Amino acid sequence: MTLDRSLASRHSRRRFLIGGSAAATVLSVGGLAARGQSPKPLPPSPDPVAPAVRRALLTAAPRPMQLLGDDRPASPLWTFGDEPLTVIRARRGDTLEARLENRLPEHTSVHWHGIRLPNAMDGVPYMTQQPVEPGEAFDYRFALPDTGTFFFHPHCNTVEQLGRGLAGVLIVEGDTPKRYAADVLCLLKDWRIDETTGEFLDFLTDSGAAKAGTFGTVRSTDFRPTPTVGIPAGRDVRVRVLNLDVTRVSQIGVEGTDAAVIATDGNAVSPFPLVDWRLGPAMRLDLTVRAPKPGETARIVDYFAKDPVTLMTLAGDGPVPDAETGFDPAPLYAPHLPEPDLRNAEVLPFTFSSTAVNRAVVAPNGDVIDLGRSLCLNPTTYWAINKQSWPERGHEFPPPPLAELTRGRTYEFELRNVTPHMHPIHLHGHTFKVLESNKVDRPVHWADTVLLTPKERVRIAFVADNPGRWMFHCHIIEHQDTGMMGYVTVT
Ligand code: C2O
Ligand code: CU
Repeated sequence: MTLDRSLASRHSRRRFLIGGSAAATVLSVGGLAARGQSPKPLPPSPDPVAPAVRRALLTAAPRPMQLLGDDRPASPLWTFGDEPLTVIRARRGDTLEARLENRLPEHTSVHWHGIRLPNAMDGVPYMTQQPVEPGEAFDYRFALPDTGTFFFHPHCNTVEQLGRGLAGVLIVEGDTPKRYAADVLCLLKDWRIDETTGEFLDFLTDSGAAKAGTFGTVRSTDFRPTPTVGIPAGRDVRVRVLNLDVTRVSQIGVEGTDAAVIATDGNAVSPFPLVDWRLGPAMRLDLTVRAPKPGETARIVDYFAKDPVTLMTLAGDGPVPDAETGFDPAPLYAPHLPEPDLRNAEVLPFTFSSTAVNRAVVAPNGDVIDLGRSLCLNPTTYWAINKQSWPERGHEFPPPPLAELTRGRTYEFELRNVTPHMHPIHLHGHTFKVLESNKVDRPVHWADTVLLTPKERVRIAFVADNPGRWMFHCHIIEHQDTGMMGYVTVT
């Protein structure tokens, strides 16, 4: 496949996309085929050799850190370790043993976003485990069935706990037939910080929660102000872009060099040129990027704003390779996921809407319920899935499931966004195929979170092969906390 022709026109195309329909965000695989280029097949992945047990200690604790620079006030971060960002690396087939020790002033847990693990390890307070109280510990232990770029975070009072930095990255290796010259993390997160005092601002606001969410005041990449990263000049590197913000949707592009998408939410996809790709909170995008020549730079940018915002600068380091080759990114190994049986799929509609009014929580007798001091709720509700809102009264009081799925069957979810806002929708415990949309031209790809743009309808499908109660919610955390959350059961 030669990407050069399509890449040559990417800038004009991008301008067209941004100025015209913001909906079409990528050159689809169908588009490549139409140009006589067929998507590269993904090579089958070898079986894991010598699976190992990987141990990690996650000590959740307050750790003040100078996020804005050495000469600036420290901010009261909460992290899992002494480094601001905890990164766990393992290989497919390994077992991860992670001990969570809670030294926070409130309870917490660890949800392993995107990992197809047993329900009891999913880290959702009251649903899959008791909250881990201050001073307590919890041992997570599960096998890693899939390669890819994942992350982990708490699942109650997430807007504050994640807002203060409590999150980590989990990279499961074993998907590359050929080594990359470098493996670069590009983790996006905003912070709600008062820049003079370093203190955090309110994590949740009613005006934000009812609309697109409350945005941070300071952006960061890898928990630093816009970094410059040196990479071996002229070679192909892997860049793992993760959106770990609680609110902001970024529109990822690369300026100044060639880049191709090789995985979505950690799952390999036949490489296609990156024009731009909308990455909602919790979504990940793996890229192959050709490193610039020695002394030259390229930029990873967010096109969502009027002027592109630089997220990371990539600088070409060292000598150019002897034989320079054209940009022709190799595919990753194929994912190991159960193929949905679309002919026999049961179709279930899910409507994501706002609630008629911002409701107080009322008991059957009409009394307004005193919500007490639970961490796992918010007293106001703005959003619903199929007209049902949760966590109104807290995770402790689950409503009926949004759907009861039969183990082993294929389900096609028809996701309908009837609001004027974007919603990145996430399902726990399963990886689904994003089939098609009425608005956005994307290739068919695997994901655990899919971004619904305003008024968009998206069809996803998956085999319900993992028994348990699985959360299904918007990953704009203020939306999740004010009603756009539910769960499905698989039995
Ligand atoms: Cu990343 Cu239920 O969340
Ligand atoms: Cu939402």
